Amino acid sequence: MSEKENATPDADETPPAEAAVTSHSALSQAADDPSIGTPRRNFVAEFMAVAVGAVVGIVPAAIGGLFFLDPLVRKRAGSGTGDGFVKTDLILDALPEDGTPIRYTVRDDLINAWNLFPDQPIGSAWLRRIQDQVLAFNTVCPHLGCAVEHRPSEGDFYCPCHTSAFDLDGKPLNVIPPRGMDTLEADVRDGGRIWLKYQEFRGATSEKVPV
Ligand code: FES
Repeated sequence: MSEKENATPDADETPPAEAAVTSHSALSQAADDPSIGTPRRNFVAEFMAVAVGAVVGIVPAAIGGLFFLDPLVRKRAGSGTGDGFVKTDLILDALPEDGTPIRYTVRDDLINAWNLFPDQPIGSAWLRRIQDQVLAFNTVCPHLGCAVEHRPSEGDFYCPCHTSAFDLDGKPLNVIPPRGMDTLEADVRDGGRIWLKYQEFRGATSEKVPV
């Protein structure tokens, strides 16, 4: 027997043709096996479904939430400039130069939930001209909330409920009120137009606390 005939193939050595057949077979098997590669495709599909679902669900909910909360987050429309002042229909020259108080009804636009009520009375103030400035008081008595009147005969402010009295600068003239009359911020703008920052304050306390 020749040396060539005695030679046996190495057990670990696979002929190239056979290796190619094996590789092709493996690929075919992978292609036919639905379990191979499926987890990643499923993950991507599920992720896309969740993302689309989130967009479809969250966007309308967010818009609805903003609509519902709108009255709470929207700035008070008002007739003012956003600093709390409202423009009155009074000019400085409409106030007596001698400082005699003029009672003025303050009006502003009101928002109740989703409804706008323009030009509504929101309170009243006593206004006095002091040269080119305006001294303003809330007409609500700081004792228990009655309306303070002006008494020209006495030259003072007076509350008939429990006889609190104040001088024309708002200082108490007896011991009944817990504090003086509540001043309001007033400004003269636009060549003489009076602007007011109307506020209300807690009664029956010595502190001037906005409510
Ligand atoms: S409420 Fe004005 S004196 Fe009492």
